[in-house]
Amino acid sequence: MARLIINETKKLGTIAPEIYGHFSEHLGRCIYEGIYVGEDSDIPNVNGMRKDVVNALKEIDIPLLRWPGGCFADEYHWRDGIGNKNERKKMINTNWGGVVEDNSFGTHEFMELCRQLGCKTYINGNVGSGSVREMSEWIEYMTLDGTSPLSDLRKANGHEEPFRVDYFGVGNENWGCGGNMTPEYYGNEYRRYQTFIRQYDQDNPIMRICCGANSEDYYWTEDVMRTCYAHTTPEQHGFMDLLSLHYYTLPEGWLPKVSATEFDADLWYKTLWAAHHIEELIVRHGAIMDKYDPEKKVGMSVDEWGTWFEVEPGTNPGFLYQQNTMRDALVAGISLNIFNKHCDRVKLACIAQMVNVLQSVILTEGEKMIKTPTWHVMYMFRHHQGAELLDSSLTGVGTAGVKDDRMVPELTESVSVKDGVITITVNNLSFEEDRELEIQFADTGAREIVECLILKGDDARDKNTFDEPDKVAVKEYKGYRVDGGRIVLTVPCASVIELRVKG
Ligand code: AHR
Repeated sequence: MARLIINETKKLGTIAPEIYGHFSEHLGRCIYEGIYVGEDSDIPNVNGMRKDVVNALKEIDIPLLRWPGGCFADEYHWRDGIGNKNERKKMINTNWGGVVEDNSFGTHEFMELCRQLGCKTYINGNVGSGSVREMSEWIEYMTLDGTSPLSDLRKANGHEEPFRVDYFGVGNENWGCGGNMTPEYYGNEYRRYQTFIRQYDQDNPIMRICCGANSEDYYWTEDVMRTCYAHTTPEQHGFMDLLSLHYYTLPEGWLPKVSATEFDADLWYKTLWAAHHIEELIVRHGAIMDKYDPEKKVGMSVDEWGTWFEVEPGTNPGFLYQQNTMRDALVAGISLNIFNKHCDRVKLACIAQMVNVLQSVILTEGEKMIKTPTWHVMYMFRHHQGAELLDSSLTGVGTAGVKDDRMVPELTESVSVKDGVITITVNNLSFEEDRELEIQFADTGAREIVECLILKGDDARDKNTFDEPDKVAVKEYKGYRVDGGRIVLTVPCASVIELRVKG
């Protein structure tokens, strides 16, 4: 029998709530239709934001939202998205389907959305086609509490108080869509741009995010860190708060893209293997960061992660709209357990993307909205936000898979404690084998179960649709037995379980 050993006397650090962050780009139907329908829409809304979507996001305690991109960020000019909506400049969204962007959702609308969600703000600036001046003026427009031409403009546009910018990204994927730069060139640009992110609110400094690598590009991490740390004193090292990492789960690589809903055991394991691979990336990029930053002052921001499949048949290929099954739920469970376990370095992460794009937690169709299996994982895992990671490890766990080079552990887990309640999240990666798991604690005293929830379909390909919105949903689970201080849990194949324990 597999065993999960928890040493609740050993706390390993705080799990930053921002690890449970989300990403919303001007891409397909993410912002428009998915979140923002405008004040005059028949779809119930508050100041243009869909009520159903905002409420569903509040249920999973979304801690942070990244905007406006993505690749879109390096073509976004913030002045186009302020002022009278009828007079806002229209542009072509060249990255995503060549559609007309009318800029009706801009800075004020994003801030209003975050206000309704009660979440932190992560704005991604434009390095690729912008300027230092444009970026620094955006910061001034948003955050200066006082009199200046830009803060006065903000006030004239209806917002007297400064906005709070919690995180600011200096460009996005500048190795690719953000300008095709070399790491050394970008590193120098980062040094220059970040200088002009002025901290107008000294009590709430803006955390600066430097553009990091794409998946295995260790060369980028090494060169950017070297360039940013060259010719600086330890005092100046603080000019980078986080370094990003982007990694998508692509079972067969970029081409061919595989179906989001039709798969066999082979593709199931290839997908879960690709998801699990993120741990190696965190360790190896982290080791390079350690060379320059041994005290781990610079956080890792995995601000784009999730599955990237073929778009839903019949939809615009530039809109990246895909369905979401129990396979996505497992990818989310695996990734979040890994982020929790590496909370000493991973300080922020954003699933890509929040609504109607890639591995979304929510899908919409006109006035209808559904929560995907990934939403349900976020719901179960929300208790880890801000909790203390506990020392935990598995023994007696085999591997599962159909090919020797793509084997995955049968079970993965993470454990945390908050307010005296221990949260255990376990995934069974096996396509068809249930597993018994014995859970042991350092303190062998009696345990009380506070809650046990499971997410499982009748089939690993199960998904929610607009006709059947609750086919896959969390349910109370009784497949455990408490034996004094020991718990024996049956973890069905292809499932995610959350167990909350007291005592
Ligand atoms: O999330 C979709 C795209 O993937 C983002 O715009 C870009 O940053 C990444 O390549």
